[in-house]
Amino acid sequence: MQKIIPAILTADSADLQKKLELFRGRSKWMHIDIMDGIFVPGRTISLSEVGEASEFFNLEIHLMVEDPFKYFEDCSGIGAKRVIFHAEAVKDIPLFLETTKGFAFQKGVALSPNLVKLSFSKLSLTKFGLSGVLLMGVHPGSQGQEFLPLVLQKITAVKESAPKLLVGVDGGIKKENIKSVFKAGADYAVVGSVIMRAKDPLSVFKSLEEMVQSIEAV
Ligand code: DX5
Ligand code: ZN
Repeated sequence: MQKIIPAILTADSADLQKKLELFRGRSKWMHIDIMDGIFVPGRTISLSEVGEASEFFNLEIHLMVEDPFKYFEDCSGIGAKRVIFHAEAVKDIPLFLETTKGFAFQKGVALSPNLVKLSFSKLSLTKFGLSGVLLMGVHPGSQGQEFLPLVLQKITAVKESAPKLLVGVDGGIKKENIKSVFKAGADYAVVGSVIMRAKDPLSVFKSLEEMVQSIEAV
């Protein structure tokens, strides 16, 4: 499975298209951040602007929105492979999963860094159709923030209590901390600014992938 997933967080449709084009044929997965200006202060492009990208990518849609349910139909329409909703935005996770079980895409729950105390056993919800957990390494809302190290313990705790769930880490990942994230037990890492703001995004993406492969070889 792909270990590094590049992330696009933008409010500019042309910028989105440019980045999608750059990674076409280079990355199988693409993480697209969607923000509604309510759940987090900023806004991004809307799902309709993602267009036909699913022809070229497995799309992981990260919904940083107040009412994720409202977006599920559109996620399905654009052919999303995995959709991530925030635990803070859903009152009852099992009920939410039950209500949305008709949607064919994988479902993952995102936990912001302040949800350290959320009981992980609650996340062993594979029977309700949960396939993954996305642990936020930063407070959701923007790219280029510093990784919060307390998240490392959370990665290990989630992986231990719910080994069947795919554990992703999103935010603040760079060359200096990427190994620690995988050593803690992450299955994949979402990387935004370090790749997208680089002069040569593809070569940074490639070098991060190589770093992760070298961990596995040890
Ligand atoms: C943060 C987003 C992340 C972001 C990652 O709110 O959910 O996906 O794009 O960007 P970096 O890697 O710069 O933290
Ligand atoms: Zn994200």
